[in-house]
Amino acid sequence: MTLGALNYGELSIGKKLAVKYFVVAMALFVAQMIFGLIAAWQFIAPDFLFGVLDFNVNRMVHINAMVVWLLYGFIGSIFWLVEDEAGVPLVGAKIAEATFWILTLAVVVVVLVYLFVQSGPGETATLWLINEGREYIEAPRWADIGIVVCMVAIFYNVLATFLKGRWSGISGVLVLDLIALAGLYLAGMFYTTNLPVDQYWWWWVIHLWVEATWEVLVGCIMAWGLIKTLGARRKIVTTWLYIEVALMFGSGILGLGHHYFWIGTPEYWLGVGGFFSALEPVPLVAMVVHSVYDAGKHAFRSNNHPALAWLIAHAFGNFLGAGVWGFMQTLPQINLYTHGTQWSSSHGHLAFFGAYVTIVVAFIYLALQKLRGDVWMSGGLIDRGIKWKWALFLTHAGMVGMTMALLIAGYEQSFVERALGGSTWQAYFEGQMRPWFIEAMWWRMGFGVLMTVGVLLLIWDFLTIGAKETKPMLEVHSLDESPEEKQVGEVGVAAQS
Ligand code: HEM
Ligand code: HEM
Ligand SMILES: [Fe+2]
Repeated sequence: MTLGALNYGELSIGKKLAVKYFVVAMALFVAQMIFGLIAAWQFIAPDFLFGVLDFNVNRMVHINAMVVWLLYGFIGSIFWLVEDEAGVPLVGAKIAEATFWILTLAVVVVVLVYLFVQSGPGETATLWLINEGREYIEAPRWADIGIVVCMVAIFYNVLATFLKGRWSGISGVLVLDLIALAGLYLAGMFYTTNLPVDQYWWWWVIHLWVEATWEVLVGCIMAWGLIKTLGARRKIVTTWLYIEVALMFGSGILGLGHHYFWIGTPEYWLGVGGFFSALEPVPLVAMVVHSVYDAGKHAFRSNNHPALAWLIAHAFGNFLGAGVWGFMQTLPQINLYTHGTQWSSSHGHLAFFGAYVTIVVAFIYLALQKLRGDVWMSGGLIDRGIKWKWALFLTHAGMVGMTMALLIAGYEQSFVERALGGSTWQAYFEGQMRPWFIEAMWWRMGFGVLMTVGVLLLIWDFLTIGAKETKPMLEVHSLDESPEEKQVGEVGVAAQS
């Protein structure tokens, strides 16, 4: 390995695959931003691209690109860590390689159909070939089936690798979580003409993914990341992970009820959903305490400053975006007024960014360090870390600005449309014609542009960070590691070479 050179050829097969997943993830991230900007501009100038790329199409591509790139980021992270955790090379490498290409080809075809075919007649053929019409997971059924097959293949790779190598607390949680994650996707594939029933099952995917299985997955990634960047003690990290997982499932599963308030489900969901979802921030607090505790215990001495910064951003972003912004509107008494306003969008943006974008970015920084031959990535980088720090700042400033603009728009809608206007169709439009709403849409646009600049800078940093570094990375040692713990943490590299 040469310091600063691109050591792709020397990576293990699992890590090579991970890099491929990260590359596609970043391409889709940029696509997400572009379509978000177009959709945001259409709030200001509704005629823009009317009849060519309508708002509903841009919005669909924006949020589908998000779901898919975050999944790519997670899969990449899993392929990156699985060999180190198991201590053996990836099992079924050929299948894994084929899966990547099939999945990516399917994604490209689906996006092209979204953009150029857009919609079809209300027939089964449309469901199969064009679009299933379920927000966030609009992919047509052929692609659904393909995605499930690919997920099963990836699950096989991960499980078989752990079975051949060794297990750890993190890998146990990870494997169980992957079963839940892939299994829940099936709930989004039924079709019924009864809208409440359809929504009932659709939320099983959306809510239970983002508030249960994805949270657990990032818990695993975070645990591994803290061990790698800080040398955090495995026993402590794993104990936290168990606590967080128990709390997440304890509150998140029945917290599902906060989407069942107004869709025609029985009234008991008001109480069940309100109570359990109000508890959902608790595990998120635990995650903040956990990461700050670990970082503090190691005096923030990390071998990868950008990764650690984004891990900490994750802990706070998750707590604020999901925990606080979600909590604000989760009691039925409040949700009655805020439901379906820009308030939800404010929360949706901050939560997805704070909880998931941050952790994928952190992981990519971890991967880049190895790709550059384990170079120095602590304080005092050659460019003084200017790019990564500005990218961190601009993306966060843009996101917080957008979130605040949307929150103001949401307050105004709750007041004018819901409280004063009584949620009539007319009040819906009135709420969107008030100055505060219109100004908020301009602010969102401006901060969206700022964030996009941050994302482009981030990608530029990904391409260049570490390239000119000549110092080897800072060695981080666990403060109080027993010999067998040390072995579990570090044997991976040796086993692959
Ligand atoms: C990382 C975790 C989370 C993500 C990514 C997330 C994302 C979202 C998104 C995108 C929506 C809009 C859904 C739609 O299109 O209708 C939404 C709705 C909602 N979320 Fe979250 N959320 C998370 C966690 C939470 C938590 C922890 C709570 C409660 C404490 C919560 C409470 C709500 C509520 C009440 C709604 C419904 C809003 C409405 O009635 O319009 N969310 N969430
Ligand atoms: C350039 C930056 C961005 C702009 C201008 C933008 C704009 C938009 C617009 C206009 C919508 C449609 C809202 C509506 O239907 O009322 C939307 C929806 C959404 N965007 Fe973004 N977005 C941006 C970045 C992001 C990022 C970084 C994320 C998360 C990682 C994200 C997640 C979402 C989600 C989850 C929704 C659905 C919200 C809901 O249904 O409540 N967006 N975005
Ligand atoms: Fe939810």
